[in-house]
This record gives sequence, structure tokens and C-alpha cells, in this order.
Amino acid sequence: MKTNVKTLIAGNWKMYKTLAQAEKLADRLADRLADKLPADREVLLLPPFTALGAVAFSLKDANRFLLGAQNFYPAQEGAFTGEIAPFMLQDLGCTHALAGHSERRHVLGETDGLISRKVAFGLQAGLHMILCIGETLDQRKQGKVEHVLKGQLLLGLTEAKDAAVAPETLSIAYEPVWAIGTGEVAKPSDILSAHAVIRKTLEEMFLDCGGKIRILYGGSVKPDNAAAILCLDNVNGVLVGGASLQDDSFAAIAAAV
Ligand code: PGA
Repeated sequence: MKTNVKTLIAGNWKMYKTLAQAEKLADRLADRLADKLPADREVLLLPPFTALGAVAFSLKDANRFLLGAQNFYPAQEGAFTGEIAPFMLQDLGCTHALAGHSERRHVLGETDGLISRKVAFGLQAGLHMILCIGETLDQRKQGKVEHVLKGQLLLGLTEAKDAAVAPETLSIAYEPVWAIGTGEVAKPSDILSAHAVIRKTLEEMFLDCGGKIRILYGGSVKPDNAAAILCLDNVNGVLVGGASLQDDSFAAIAAAV
């Protein structure tokens, strides 16, 4: 199934890029993709917090480029040292944000409970939320892929579902942990079966609206595998890490057909 929303090509810059490097990358991407982005696509850049303002400025005249944050704290404001609130990100031009990325789950110790609060709070604040889910290699070897994906979806979306927020402002990114930053991309059959489980679960949770939620694939997406991944059933975009840090590779992925 292909949703009727635009395919999303998202670049997660993680903890990379100085201000000058971020500006240069955003400028080059806007330039390279000005007349090469297929009509049904949008590009989302997720720079580090420190570069959001500069990238917003670089993208101000770029069509179909969106700006997002890699993280935030789910509160309006308050005594949360070191944290950043959704409205501060929106102030800088962010319309999207990630939650549940495997590095935040496994390196920073984020729980499904916190991730669920972030998804619900972000949606209520007016951000388009991208909930990342995915199994570890051990879980895959133990045949637990479906169980893990369903569990992370149900737990990650509990509060959003209770708050009855608009599901079309939500995307899910399937990112098998073993494929992130490893050069090991999931096989088309693995992507197809994982995305089918996710679609079915979304339809059970959100009925018809579950069919409109974008499902992105992430994990070692590169220019030479992007087209084959993007044409798979229930793949509505990609979330790119390493290959989003260079303008030539990310532009090639965004334009891949
Ligand atoms: P990768 O990262 O493309 O470098 O595997 C993907 C991600 O972390 O979102």
C-alpha cells in the first residue's frame, strides 16, 4: 500500500556538523535538489539543535524542504536543565521531531514510557512526530521481530491514542538496530514483512487513519539501495543517518527512482 501523502526523505545528522558545515550542507542540498526532487517527495533535515536556526535560514526559499529536531523534552517549559521544549523548536522553524531513536533507547536509556510521553506531547504541541522502532540482532535471532515491533508501537503510541491526536501527523520509522550505522541493510523481504506488521498494527489502533500514517525505513540507506527500498510496498520514505552527512549522497537518495 502507498499512502497518498508525500514520500519523506529524512536526514538525521545526529551529533555532527559545526554551524558553518551545517549551513554549507543545507545550502548545497537546496541547490542540488531544486529541480531534481521528484514531485511526490519532501525532504526533512534533522540537524543538531545548535544548527537549527542556521539551517532554517538556509532553507527559507527551498521548496518541499522541512526542518525537524532529533529530540525534545515533553513539557511546555520549566526547570528542566539542559532540555529543550517543542515550542522553542517551533520558534526556530521546526515542524517535525523524532522520538524513540535506537541511540536514545540504547545509549541514553530512554524508556517506552518517556517515548510515549514525547510522542503525545509533541503531537499535541503541533509537531509531526516520527516514532522510531526496531529490533536488536538478538531479538531477530530469537524470532521476536513481530513481538518487538508491536510492543514498541503499542507502548510508544499509548498516550497519543488516549489523547486522540490526529494520526496523520505521525510517521513510524522502522530501523532494525543491527542495520543502523553498520553498512548492513535489511533485505527487501525483511523490510516488507516488518512494514506489513507495522501497517496492520496501525490499522488496528487507528482504523482507517492507520492507512495514512507514513512508514519509513532506516538503517544503512545509501544511494545504491535507496530506489529498491523506496519502491517496496508500505515504504513511504527513508530515514538516513550516515549518508545524509554529505550533499552528494543525500541528494542522490532524495532523487532516487
Ligand atoms: P544510518 O543511520 O543510515 O547511518 O544507518 C540511520 C539512523 O540512525 O536513523
